[in-house]
Amino acid sequence: MNHTSTFACALITLLLAGSAAGQTRKSVLLQYDTQIDSIISRMTLEEKINMLHAKHMFVSAGIERLGIADMKYADGPFGIREEMQPDGWMPLGWANDKATFFPTGSALAATWSPEIAYSYGTAMAREARLRGKDMLLGPAINIQRIPTGGRTYEYLSEDPFLSSQLSVGYTRGVQDNGVAVCLKHYALNNQENNRGTVNVTVGERALREIYLPPFRAAVEEADAYGVMAAYNKVDGWWCAENDMLLNRILRDEWGFAGMVISDWGGTHSTVNSIKNGLNVEMPDKKFLGQALLDSVRAGIVSEEVIDRRVREIMRVRLAIKPVPENEANREMTSQPPQQKVAYDVAIRSIVLLKNDGVLPLKLTGKTVIAVIGANATQKMASGGLGAGVKALYEVTPLEGLTKKIGDRAEIIYVKGYEPVQYSYFDRFRKRTPEELEKEAKARELTAEKLAEEAVRVASGADLVLFVGGDNRAVETEGEDRKAIFLPSGQDKLITRIAEVNPNIITVLTSGAPNDLNTVNPLSRALLISWFNGSEGGNALADVLTGEVSPSGRLPFTIPVKLEDSPAYALGNYPQTDRNADVFASLVSDGDSTGKPRKEQAMEPENDPDNAYYSEESLVGYRWFDTKNIPVMYPFGHGLTYTSFEYSSLKSDKKTYGLNDVITITFKLKNTGLMSADEVVQAYVHRINPSVEWPEKELKAFERVTMAPGESKTVNISIPVKSLMYWNEAKQAWANDLCKTELLVGASATDIRLQKKIRLR
Ligand code: BGC
Repeated sequence: MNHTSTFACALITLLLAGSAAGQTRKSVLLQYDTQIDSIISRMTLEEKINMLHAKHMFVSAGIERLGIADMKYADGPFGIREEMQPDGWMPLGWANDKATFFPTGSALAATWSPEIAYSYGTAMAREARLRGKDMLLGPAINIQRIPTGGRTYEYLSEDPFLSSQLSVGYTRGVQDNGVAVCLKHYALNNQENNRGTVNVTVGERALREIYLPPFRAAVEEADAYGVMAAYNKVDGWWCAENDMLLNRILRDEWGFAGMVISDWGGTHSTVNSIKNGLNVEMPDKKFLGQALLDSVRAGIVSEEVIDRRVREIMRVRLAIKPVPENEANREMTSQPPQQKVAYDVAIRSIVLLKNDGVLPLKLTGKTVIAVIGANATQKMASGGLGAGVKALYEVTPLEGLTKKIGDRAEIIYVKGYEPVQYSYFDRFRKRTPEELEKEAKARELTAEKLAEEAVRVASGADLVLFVGGDNRAVETEGEDRKAIFLPSGQDKLITRIAEVNPNIITVLTSGAPNDLNTVNPLSRALLISWFNGSEGGNALADVLTGEVSPSGRLPFTIPVKLEDSPAYALGNYPQTDRNADVFASLVSDGDSTGKPRKEQAMEPENDPDNAYYSEESLVGYRWFDTKNIPVMYPFGHGLTYTSFEYSSLKSDKKTYGLNDVITITFKLKNTGLMSADEVVQAYVHRINPSVEWPEKELKAFERVTMAPGESKTVNISIPVKSLMYWNEAKQAWANDLCKTELLVGASATDIRLQKKIRLR
């Protein structure tokens, strides 16, 4: 770790402790207010209104006359998006806007490392600055509520504490390097189907304890400057005009001093939006342009509200120094120091789910390795709808492996299956039953040909490396997956391969959980290597060969079957799909049905769309643990090439008061022959609570690097204040002071040490 990130980490810990102890915090943005008042006093009403909506697709206006620069947004969150036409979605085709593709959200979360998240943020900001941008549209930090969620790969985790820690690291990394973050999508954008219409109804405890913490932490502990309001509604109000979310919680409670922008096309009103806390309508001016000016002139909106919104934007504008025009876009966006960060993340993210000893690879003689699966050559920087990265380069699994061991092994690649291709407008194409049958037949024929080739190659190989999983067409913004089965007939294919060669190692390149019932027993080793960025293939090769021990941990639970997971088990997902994403209304031309897409998006046949989060706080492992439902692989799980022994758990006291910090220590020993990182996890179980709690909750974790044979004493701190619950009657955080058990282990179900304490 470099000095900057050590420092950043210490700072995060300090801030965390500060916030847990209830200290009041003031945003650094407030220092500009006197200067801003003077600027506002010189502005005309028209100039003010001009700042409250888009100027271009990714720009909102400053005031040239007063030397206030425009605000330039960079789509994130896992690489700086290529330069687009000012008023459209077509790329400009520049030569030097190729960026580094960083591992996507769930991969970053699998590192369980706020320090790595800090480096990630630093690297993103550096590339944003090279492109002259002021605000990064990221990190994306919604909780992964459903395994099928289209943006699970972009989001971090099913757990609020892990998500919060990483959000804080990411945010500080970005803002320490001169770029503002824009936390998205605030709030409860937990599904993609119907995201533009769905109204979320959620209990207040779940809202406060599960869904808001990552946003709160990034605001309170890292002073995030920007927030993006989500597309959906919460409690009947669109997020971009939601007084409870924007004014009362974000600004009044958390002390957010920055600016809120709408998601693209997510503004729905003039008066409510401006009064209830929206600063900038993106990427249009339908509501916060002339209509707003008219509303002020008609006396429906006061100029004081306009001034407040302008002030909030101006604070960010003054805190972020604009990149001078003649310095931006001078060199290629992707640069070696950032590429190194992409590797550092990727190498810590790969999760080894199972291993019977076949890994690390033992290459004797000229081992013949059959690499089977289109994902071995598939690039993951872009694919579906949404912010892809025009990557300078992306090392695929096959390239990484060939470079690493091509001289020591004979690698034979076959495609094995046809990858899913993405077409946003495919869903609107109407086909006759005959056409559908013809298409299905053609697909079957291709699959059979590819499978036969794969079986032939596998039967002559010493080892099969099956590379499967999803791709960016399968997991995409704008729609949720219908199931979590491996796509493209991969289950069928691996079953046939196993009949001729059972020596199979499987790598899944997915950003979200898959159904592993077929692939798990057929694989001697099974790894998830995510959508792992420009350096993903190199990192994978280093892990497979044992140059580096795998050290990623699952940021979500992999259920035995989709129906076991909470929203599915309770039948509160899915709602009927409107079959037309909100995004469709941003695109104006027609499609093959001959109907303008705008019209399709507005068809009301499936309204009302409501999502009731009746599982309340039992999201992810909280549900499986509490309901005693077996899982395929638990939250926090991940193997290494060594083994660890946990012993001698001690707490500094037996009884803790409200303002105390519980400090526990235990001994960790690397009992194997390789050096590796262990991610130690501390959960809390309430023994005799006065309110309901999940069976256990993650409250601390640490990534510890251990040489073979090394022993270390690990210290972990849990502020008692972090154990509070949201008391709905009192509308405040409250304590449930009860007997409590601390559980320390290597995953949510692999608890190695326990210790009872008392809170009073
Ligand atoms: C996405 C945002 C993104 C914006 C601009 C929206 O469709 O939800 O995450 O930043 O588009 O590309």
